[in-house]
Amino acid sequence: MRKANVLMDRDFAIGQTDPRLFGAFVEHLGRCVYGGIFEPGHPTADEKGFRRDVLALVKELGPTIIRYPGGNFVSGYNWEDGVGPVEKRPARLDLAWFSTEPNSFGTNEFMDWCKTAAVEPMLAVNLGTRGGDAARNLVEYCNHPSGSAWSDLRRAHGWEQPHGVKFWCLGNEMDGPWQMEYKSADAYGTVAREAAKMMRWIDPSIELAACGSSGRNMPTFGQWEDTVIEHTFDHAEYISLHTYLNNYKQDTPSFLASPDLMDRFIDEVVAIADAVAAKRRSHRRMMLSFDEWNVWYRTRRNRADRVWEGWPVAPSILEEIYTMEDALAFGGACISLLNHADRVRTACLAQLVNAIAPIMTETGGAAWRQTIFFPFAQMSRLGRGKVLRTQVESDAYDSSYYDPRGEQQSMFPIPNVAYLKIAAVAGEGGGLSLFMLNRDLMQEMEVNLEARSFGRLTVGEALELRHDDLKATNTKTTPERVKPAPLQGASVDGGKLRVTLKPASWNVIHLSAG
Ligand code: AHR
Repeated sequence: MRKANVLMDRDFAIGQTDPRLFGAFVEHLGRCVYGGIFEPGHPTADEKGFRRDVLALVKELGPTIIRYPGGNFVSGYNWEDGVGPVEKRPARLDLAWFSTEPNSFGTNEFMDWCKTAAVEPMLAVNLGTRGGDAARNLVEYCNHPSGSAWSDLRRAHGWEQPHGVKFWCLGNEMDGPWQMEYKSADAYGTVAREAAKMMRWIDPSIELAACGSSGRNMPTFGQWEDTVIEHTFDHAEYISLHTYLNNYKQDTPSFLASPDLMDRFIDEVVAIADAVAAKRRSHRRMMLSFDEWNVWYRTRRNRADRVWEGWPVAPSILEEIYTMEDALAFGGACISLLNHADRVRTACLAQLVNAIAPIMTETGGAAWRQTIFFPFAQMSRLGRGKVLRTQVESDAYDSSYYDPRGEQQSMFPIPNVAYLKIAAVAGEGGGLSLFMLNRDLMQEMEVNLEARSFGRLTVGEALELRHDDLKATNTKTTPERVKPAPLQGASVDGGKLRVTLKPASWNVIHLSAG
């Protein structure tokens, strides 16, 4: 049996989690919108065509903010196509996913869906095929009360009150050649800065995120951030990061180590942002928006999983079926995000339904939870509060992770990977939530944890997510094959917790005060 010791103190905090850390993403991609959140005619659809079964699962998942409408899709999107009388809206060829976009769901429908789901909207503007002019018009359409052409058009379309969208993304992955009209860092930085200026002149209350690299494995990573932040430092509050973890090599120890590269990616982006601040002698700190993250590889490289012939509407593309081991790597990513709560203020699980998603549906039929649903739901429910610094003594292993996007470099060393990955969050009510990943595939792990300055704690909730078969999945016919179960044997004495974690397991313990 492995052993790990953990020490923390209630007064030694990394930072408070921003509610927006628990966000997700809805893109016009495959069946995420059509057949996912929106399916008029479905037996559970409400009068607006929103699937109530999906809404119930979204509520249980607990996302706080939803990014929309893309993703790659946004870089060719004319937002005007998606507003006004539905019967007059044009069908367009979408060059991001080689589908036909019917535009029967657009910005106003999304705002209504967000209200129904009780989540905050986050809108991305098209800085690929379009620019600052279309972006500022969209801000005027959404947020200006009345008395101007675009705001009055919104009112004429039936939405009298402004939508009040606060969080805006300045394009999407503009460093990537797969993007419509991708740009050099200098060209993008200039467009982003000018769009940001105009958008904020219309509504000074908005917050803006500039595009960082679409992955740490991009050849331009680092230089891209430096240049873009130089341009946007005085105009945007956030720089974005994207990561999709993979197990292409079927090397599970490396896959479970890969969230540690997210930690490094975050630290590196913080260093670059702060170096730009230092050159200006500025006290201002740019925050990070990790607005796409997940596991994604099975449906990523094979063109047939991404593109169907004949320009179909809402094809079943990117429908990644998640395994138990995916949920473990995903849980590791949750821990990485929590442990950077001081700088990562926003994060979006990509995506929400059907396309690389925690929620799966059958068009016209059932909806169910994928394996990755559970770590996210637990993080959102129990991860609100003050994230504490943890001092961890654990055995470690060396790993090397394959991430093929960069042309020159596709192996990334990850030395000294602790078998125990942990985040600890002190809640408002005096309790403590622990998120623990045992990355040892064979051995149990005894964890001895001392939580100082908490007073008496008792075990309120203890759950584990594991399966004898690391390839186990949840499907329509076996929707509950992988699900959390009670974690037995956790004991607390004062502020000292002892618990044994199963091999290859994700564990959540909530200790209540008193
Ligand atoms: O989430 C799927 C795609 O991944 C998004 O459209 C894009 O931004 C990223 O490359």
